[in-house]
Amino acid sequence: MSVHRSSPHDSAPLHVGGAARYVDDIPLPRGALHLAFGLSTIAKGRITDMDLSLVRKALGVVAVLTAEDLPFANDVSPGAHDEPLLSDGTVHYHGQPLFLVVAESHLLARKAARLGKITYTEETPILTIKEALAADSRFEDGPRVWSKGDSRTAIKSAPNRISGRITMGGQEHFYLEGQAALALPQDNGDMEIHSSTQHPTEIQHKVAEALGIPFHGVRVETRRMGGGFGGKESQGNALAVACAIAARLTGRACKMRYDRDDDMVITGKRHDFEIDYEVGFDQSGRILGIEFDQKTRGGWALDLTLPVADRAMLHSDNAYLLDHVTITSHRLKTNTASATAFRGFGGPQGVLGIERVMDHIAHTLGADPVDVRRINYYAPMQANTAAAHPTNTTPYGMEVTDFILGEMTENFLESAAYVERRREIDAWNAAQPILKKGLGFSPVKFGISFTLTHLNQAGALVHVYADGSIRINHGGTEMGQGLFQKVAQVAAQTFGVDQAAIKITATDTAKVPNTSATAASSGSDLNGMAVKIACDTIKNRLGEVAAKHFGCAPAELRFEGGHVNSPSKSMPFADLAALAYQSRVSLSSTGFYKTPDLSWDRIAGKGRPFFYFAQGLALTEVVIDTLTGENRILRADILHDAGASLNPALDIGQVEGGYVQGAGWLTTEELVWDDKGRLRTHAPSTYKIPACSDRPDVFNVDLWDAPNPMATIFRSKAVGEPPFMHGISAFLALSDAISACGPKYPMLDAPATPERILAAIKRARDEL
Ligand code: MTE
Ligand code: MOS
Repeated sequence: MSVHRSSPHDSAPLHVGGAARYVDDIPLPRGALHLAFGLSTIAKGRITDMDLSLVRKALGVVAVLTAEDLPFANDVSPGAHDEPLLSDGTVHYHGQPLFLVVAESHLLARKAARLGKITYTEETPILTIKEALAADSRFEDGPRVWSKGDSRTAIKSAPNRISGRITMGGQEHFYLEGQAALALPQDNGDMEIHSSTQHPTEIQHKVAEALGIPFHGVRVETRRMGGGFGGKESQGNALAVACAIAARLTGRACKMRYDRDDDMVITGKRHDFEIDYEVGFDQSGRILGIEFDQKTRGGWALDLTLPVADRAMLHSDNAYLLDHVTITSHRLKTNTASATAFRGFGGPQGVLGIERVMDHIAHTLGADPVDVRRINYYAPMQANTAAAHPTNTTPYGMEVTDFILGEMTENFLESAAYVERRREIDAWNAAQPILKKGLGFSPVKFGISFTLTHLNQAGALVHVYADGSIRINHGGTEMGQGLFQKVAQVAAQTFGVDQAAIKITATDTAKVPNTSATAASSGSDLNGMAVKIACDTIKNRLGEVAAKHFGCAPAELRFEGGHVNSPSKSMPFADLAALAYQSRVSLSSTGFYKTPDLSWDRIAGKGRPFFYFAQGLALTEVVIDTLTGENRILRADILHDAGASLNPALDIGQVEGGYVQGAGWLTTEELVWDDKGRLRTHAPSTYKIPACSDRPDVFNVDLWDAPNPMATIFRSKAVGEPPFMHGISAFLALSDAISACGPKYPMLDAPATPERILAAIKRARDEL
């Protein structure tokens, strides 16, 4: 078997040996130029004068461009046409690109970009959620509201009621490889682009628009990214377009990469949220009615804010059956960098909302938080016939038919020794005056599919050569998640050959057209299936050749162990490929896949936006120092549902990385903007991502190995984003440790920095 087996990432030796080639490593042709943006130093206003004379005179500068020099579209937005590459005279955020410097070296371009003298008339920026609400500054006419049942009446008549608010910060992607692009001018005005992007097709479109040529004139290639995490879905557009325009103008190769500070200031981050909740529940903790009011800062341009905010709404139920629920979503427009996709795409924010509610209910009742969750779970898969559970539906009306968290929870609590450890920690806390420990439990149920239904399609191109070696290509991109390896396993499995026979190749818009971003965790679901379909087409043709040669029926053939076998005869796959070639049989095929059974009305908030749900559980133990707010994760246990995993080693890697990244979001990673809209945390000196030493000392990660009931690629499940939400358990554990300090619910906000932990301790002690 090639699938359902652990094997290393195809580029692992190259990664660790420093030999994996990224955009910045591609050898440049002679005369290549380097680009840098001049950035705005105010958050909102109009440019009254741009004196760029010193920039033009600076050493090594070849050209300086402003919006007026752009020949065609001045837009790098993913769709709304509201994001000029270079300011059109209006400034929308601090750090917005105003002009473009083309110079002989990266350093000279950056130095020259600092020499612009810009005069502005400043206006008062809208920076915070509060200011945006007061000014009614939104991307849509009003809030979006979805509901099921009658939440008002249900809350009013409930025996218990609580309300509260949780704020959660954004998050910098901190991909190790920053944004980068390289443009190589071709014959006849065509353009070749190398881009560190999750979305080569969008890069192709934006470059073509900017150059005023059809899509066929632009070829985009992406071999790999050094991390994307959603930050390279749309944020690479500006660099690629800038390079293409400069390359067209100068006739020379042009490269651009952001230095880390510029990257952090210019590009969008995770959406921060403020979520108000009101909930009515019975004595057992069962939710009778609930309302969420979600407010998010989208920044200055639309980018992906609407689908991100939609996904936050779509995950405000998480694992729980809510009969009476209203979710209101405010998509606010502010003078900050335009917030964008980040692992989970709004889902984590929605999930944190209801996980906070679960803990708040448990605290109010003095109940076990795990019990409160179990009481509210969706009905399990087996029991869940429509007749047995006519209302096992999400707030958006999708029937949940594949819920397995109940069964997983039973197993998990045992393996993580929940009950014993809860007791031990309670005893420890009672005895310890300064250090307090906490436990946090969080499940996740994450919807798999793009909510924009038409994006759920993928293409592939597979060639078998006459020596039996195989070259595969598909629309997905590799960002470290192991997609290329998994898809190669699919091809090896289908042809019954060793993976050494498969060549993995760079994503290329000239090979597979009209692709979707590699996003929504659907990379292997979509591209794995497209490659399988292409391989099957070729395999069927090969089967006919072999059947004729062997004198048997094609159905009697087996492709395995690098051979094709009939009941009585056998030949190496390579010999069959040669025979097919000599028989003039095509050994190349495309493959195309689209996810079945989706229908979604995002305005009404009704339908089936997801093909299935990926699920999982996490339990984190922490310790806090109640004098300083310092804290540490001591242990994390995770049980994650990857279906019948295509590659358990890679999937466990995704789960571990997702957990650490999620915990980082909610603990140490804090974005601070000042009252002028300047990002003060624009380097690793002030923005703290988790280090190796921050991972839990005890880190038990297991996969729940059960085939996906839906017909996905070899019954696997998407695994890229869902584990991010396991990090929520670390946040809940901190809150639990704080609860040991006093009788009041601590109402901890995220990120739970030492300052916020100290404030929450005071709240718990009723000292605030
Ligand atoms: N893992 C690594 N190592 N690097 C990344 O950039 N991105 C995440 C996730 N895991 C990412 C990652 C995000 S945001 C998504 S949507 C998925 O991978 C995309 O890949 P997939 O669809 O192949 O899972
Ligand atoms: Mo992932 S946020 O869907 O790129």
